[in-house]
Amino acid sequence: MRDLLPREAEHMRFIESEAREIARLYGYQEVITPLIEHYELLAAKIGEENRKRMYVFEDLGGRRVALRPEFTASVARLVSTRMMTEPKPIRLFSTGSLYRYDEPQFGRYREFWQANYELIGSSRPEVDAEILSLSNDLLKKTLLEEYYFKVGHVGVLRGILSEEGVSETEQNRVMQMLDKKMWEEALRILKKLASERCLETLRRLFKISGGEWSNIIKEMRTSVEGYEKASSAVENLETILNLTSEAKMNLNVIVEAGFARGLEYYTGMIFEVYVPGMDIALGGGGRYDRLIELFGGEPTPAAGVALGIDRIMLAVRRQHPNWKPPRRGIRVLVLPVNEEVRGKALEVSSRLRERGITVEAEVMGRTVSRALSDASKRGISHVIIVGPKELKEGKVALRDMESKEQKTVTIDEAADILENYAV
Ligand code: HAM
Repeated sequence: MRDLLPREAEHMRFIESEAREIARLYGYQEVITPLIEHYELLAAKIGEENRKRMYVFEDLGGRRVALRPEFTASVARLVSTRMMTEPKPIRLFSTGSLYRYDEPQFGRYREFWQANYELIGSSRPEVDAEILSLSNDLLKKTLLEEYYFKVGHVGVLRGILSEEGVSETEQNRVMQMLDKKMWEEALRILKKLASERCLETLRRLFKISGGEWSNIIKEMRTSVEGYEKASSAVENLETILNLTSEAKMNLNVIVEAGFARGLEYYTGMIFEVYVPGMDIALGGGGRYDRLIELFGGEPTPAAGVALGIDRIMLAVRRQHPNWKPPRRGIRVLVLPVNEEVRGKALEVSSRLRERGITVEAEVMGRTVSRALSDASKRGISHVIIVGPKELKEGKVALRDMESKEQKTVTIDEAADILENYAV
C-alpha cells in the first residue's frame, strides 16, 4: 500500500472523474458498496489465486469478513437482494479502493483503485460490445495511446471441457493454469480426464492468436468442429466483434483462443487491456451470466469491466512523462502588504471565493518581494496585493505573474477579470 502525493492523487482523481463522466455518458448510475463484506460472498467465484490473496479477518461479532478484492461480487449481491424488481437493463458504476495481497512489483499494489461498470439483465451481444466501447472511450480520455484489447471466450474452452465430462472444479483448475499461461500443465491435468481428441483440439486452440480477427475466428471455428457449445461460443464472439466493427469503434483487438481469466464467474466473452512494453493488464472484464443467480437472485445475464486506475496512471506517465492533468481555473494568492491589513486580506479572499475563484491566503508573514518570488515558484498565476493606500479607495493591486503586469482595480473588477480566466 502506498501514499499518493498531490501530483499522483490529482492524476488518480482526474482518471476517476473521467470514469465518472463515461458513466454519465453511457447511463450508468453509481452505487457505493461497503469495503468489507462476508468472506464467503467475496470468495465464492473469485478463483483460487485471488482467494489466497484476500485480506480476511474475524470482526468483533465473530463474523469472517474480508476487504473487497473487486466490485463485481458486491454489485451482484446488491442486485440479487435489493434490485431484483428494477426494470432491466440495470447499469451500475462503482469506483474506490480494492485490496489484494499481491506480491509488490511494478504496477502491482496491495491497495489499488478501479473504475467498475456492470451492465445487468441482457444476454445480447450489444451488451458485450457496449462494455468494450465504454472501456475504449475511457482509455482514450486518459490520453493513453497504443493500447489493445486481448479478447477470448470462456465458452470455447469450458464448452469443450464440459462436453468431455470434466467437472467444474477441474475446469476451474485448468482455467487458473491457462490464466498463468501454463499450457503444458493444463494439458497434463487433462490427460487423465479428457479424450485424445480434446487434447488435440486444445493444443490447436492454444496456438491460435492474432489481430486479423476474422481469420482467427475462422481457425477457431474449424478447430472446435463437433463440439457444439464451443462452436456456438465462437459464433457469439464473432457476432460481438462484428458489432464493434459495424459501430466503427476502431478497437485494436487481438483474439486469443486459449485466453482465460483467473476469476471464475465468467461464462462468455472475456477481455483484458494492455499497452506495449507493460505486461500487466490495465483492465479486464467479461460476461458472467450465472453470478446473480448464485447469490440468490433470479437467473440474470450480465457483463462488466474494471479498469485499473493505478495502472492507467503508470502507463500514461510512461507514454507522456511530462503530462499534467489539465488545470481547471487559475491560482490566486491574496497578499497583505503589512500586519495592519491582514484581516482585510482575509476578507478579500472570502469575497473572491464567493465568486468561485480559487484563492490561497498568504499565511507565512513574508515581505511582498519574498512572497512574490515564492508565488512564482509555486505556480501562482495571479496575486492580489492588499495595501492600506489602495484600500482607502476600495481598491487592490492585481498582478499577473506571467506578464508581470499590475493594475489597481476594485475587488469586484478583480473578481470579473479573474472569473474570465477561470472558465
Ligand atoms: P481483474 O482483472 O481482477 O478484474 O481486475 C481488473 C483490473 O484491476 C486489472 O486489469 C488491473 O488493472 C487492476 N488490478 C488488479 N489487481 C491489481 C493490483 N494488485 N494492483 C494494481 N492494479 C490491479 C476484476 O476485478 C473484475 N471484477 C472485472 C469485472 C467487472 N468483470 C466483470 N465486471
